[in-house]
Formats: sequence, structure tokens, C-alpha cells
Amino acid sequence: MRDLFDRIIENKGPLGKWASQAEGYFVFPKLEGNISNRMKFNGKDVITWSINDYLGLANHPEVLKVDAQAAAQHGAAYPMGARMMSGHTDLHDQLQNELAEFVDKQAAYLLNFGYQGMVSCIDALVTKDDIIVYDVDSHACIIDGVRLHMGKRFTYQHNDMESLEKNLERATKMAEQTGGGILVISEGVFGMRGEQGRLKEIVALKGKYNFRLLVDDAHGFGTLGKTGAGTGEEQGVQDQIDVYFATFAKSMAGIGAFLAGDKEVIDYLKYNLRSQMFAKSLPMIYVKGALKRLHMMKTMPELKEKLWENVNALQNGLKERGFNIGTTQSCVTPVYLNGSIPEAMALVKDLRENYGIFCSIVVYPVIPKGLILLRMIPTATHDLEDIQLTLDAFSAIRDRLENGTYKRLSAAVEAAMGDK
Ligand SMILES: Cc1ncc(COP(=O)(O)O)c(C=O)c1O
Repeated sequence: MRDLFDRIIENKGPLGKWASQAEGYFVFPKLEGNISNRMKFNGKDVITWSINDYLGLANHPEVLKVDAQAAAQHGAAYPMGARMMSGHTDLHDQLQNELAEFVDKQAAYLLNFGYQGMVSCIDALVTKDDIIVYDVDSHACIIDGVRLHMGKRFTYQHNDMESLEKNLERATKMAEQTGGGILVISEGVFGMRGEQGRLKEIVALKGKYNFRLLVDDAHGFGTLGKTGAGTGEEQGVQDQIDVYFATFAKSMAGIGAFLAGDKEVIDYLKYNLRSQMFAKSLPMIYVKGALKRLHMMKTMPELKEKLWENVNALQNGLKERGFNIGTTQSCVTPVYLNGSIPEAMALVKDLRENYGIFCSIVVYPVIPKGLILLRMIPTATHDLEDIQLTLDAFSAIRDRLENGTYKRLSAAVEAAMGDK
């Protein structure tokens, strides 16, 4: 018999195996300084393109003031305990009511962390007789929620309505046998490639199939729709989303998340979300902080306008220079290049060290082999100078990628990895 740890010591997993080459630089980098368009990395000034502080609220003076006041008044702990037992307050209720109103739903329920909240939401919504049909590119929290499901689940090809329909047909036949219902799950915005979930087309299928729709709108909330209420508002189908989810970790620049929907559904979830019933409530710092951020989102449309000015300038600039930014329909700005993992590492190092540009790099196995994805997140804190410098840097690194500079530079890395 093996010792349990033999395997994990031999095999660190698909990402962990890169640790010795990547840690501290490509993964687990330490960005320092106030959260903004310009930060420090390895002691150097960099333009940051990898932080989801879409509206620039993280370091806004008014936000910092409220966060500090809340911390001074309550410390980090209050309230203690789970919501159900001792961790509930008037302000938790107030935030829920304001969030529900903002996303145009009857009710909302706060979550201490989005990830766990989503896992529990899926777990609570279905029984073994129900069937889940979800987009194959769904975020890990959706996949983990689906993993808890004891009944049948089907994936549909990413944003492919024909595939969704095929799976809805299968699910419907099955549900007729089990006596259960169907839950469809999509993201509002797919965070890696920036495409919006095709919510309008998904809800149109409600005329033909009987299902309920859960949408994870982590990247849409605050960035899309006339008021910033998200992808449902953007596509004019918010009322057709049965359970709406968003996190505070992006536009709201905080911690926490919420679910919103019809009162009856939210009342049910309130008593059945295991990750909330058996875990600590969202601390007051984040509740007061979220109330402040929400008020700013509602009353300062200029934040979202500035964000989109930057998104459009960056995306149009990249397209004009012939970069492939895929099919994004949101602020998430992917730039696809062709190259190996060692070339990607050399290229990102060049960008950071010589051009002062910090963006996230995504490679196989997250995307197909031979592709490099530089994922950029414009925010309201960026300016046109940041964008111009970045566009020029991108043109330069593309030339070097194409003329083989990074291949030569990365030869040593490749040899070390035995991947020639
Ligand atoms: C699509 C999506 N869903 C859920 C989450 C998890 O939210 P949280 O960070 O609040 O746990 C994230 C990451 O923040 C996300 O990108």
C-alpha cells in the first residue's frame, strides 16, 4: 500500500508542476502598492492589467474612509457566528434589500464568499431527481457545485445553443422519468475570453422547454447594462433569470457576494445554503463597505463610463494593430498569440522587465496547446497614456515573438523542462 502523500509529492498537479519555474513571478506574483493602474512588481513600476477592480473603487478615497470607519467601529470580527445563529444585523438586511432593488429582483441573500455560495446554491436548488445542464466553460465554483449533485448532469458546448437544445431534450426526457426539474447554468460573462453568455437565446428556449436559469454574473455586475445591473440588464432579460449571482470581488472591490431572485426562492435558499448556515457571516466591514460601493455604483455613472472609454480604447487599439482579441463582448480583453509555454514565459518577462506592463498569462492546459493568452482587465483607473504605452509594447513583443527572439531566449527554459 502507498502512503497517501506519495502521489502528491510525485505529482503536483497540472499547474503545480510548473512551480519551480513559475512561482513568485508567473504565479503567486507579489504586486505591491495601492491597488490602481500603476503598482510595483519586483521593485519596478508597472502598469497593471490583471486586477478586476473594474470601477476603480478599491482605492477610492471615499471607499477607504468608510472601510476604515467600519474597521474602527466594529473590528474585523463583528458579527460573530453564522447568519442563522448570531451573525445577522439590520445592515445585512439593508444591503440585501438594496442589492435586490439594484438588480431588479424581489429579494437577495448575502454570501460570505461567492465561491462557496455558488456551490451551495447549486446543491440547494436540486435533488437527485433533477437534471443540471450547464455550459462546459463554466467557472470552477459552478463545476464544484455540480459535483455535489447526486442526479444527472449534462454539459453543453460553450455558448452553443444547438448543443444546449440537444441537452435540454435529453434532460426533459429524463426528468419526465424521474419526476424532477431542470436547472440550466450559464455565466453572464465568461471571465477568461470575455464572451457574454447567450442569455437572451437561452431564455428564449423557455418557451419550448421547462427549466430554471441560474446565472453567475461575476464579471457583468457593475460593468454591463444601463445601470450596471449586469448581463441580464444588458441583454434585456433580467426578469427571465431565475437565480442571479454576483460577487463583490470584482466591480465592488471587496469580499462577499449575493444571490437574487423571487422572494420564495430566496427564502428557501436562506434556510438551505449549507456553506452559509454553517459558516461565519460576512463581517460588518464588508457589509458597510458594500453599501458604500453600491451607492457609488448607483450615483456615479461616470465610473462605468470611464471604464468603457478605456475598454474601447484598448480593444480598438489592439484590433487596429491586428491583434486577435477573440470574441470578447465585455471588459475582459484577451490577446491571443501563437507560441510555446517557454516562449510565453520569455515574452511576459520582457513585457514586465523592459516595458513595465503587468498582465496575466494563460497557457495550456487552460487553453489549447500552442496558444498564449494575455488576459487584460481595463479599469476606470487606467488612462490613455497607459493604453498607448501598452499598445506600443504589445506591437514590440509580437515582433520579437514572430522573429524567434523568445524562442532563442527560452531555449534554456525549454531544455530544463525537457519539452523540446
Ligand atoms: C465567475 C466567477 N464566479 C465566482 C467567483 C467566486 O467569487 P468569490 O471571489 O466571491 O468567492 C469568481 C471569482 O471571484 C468568478 O470569477
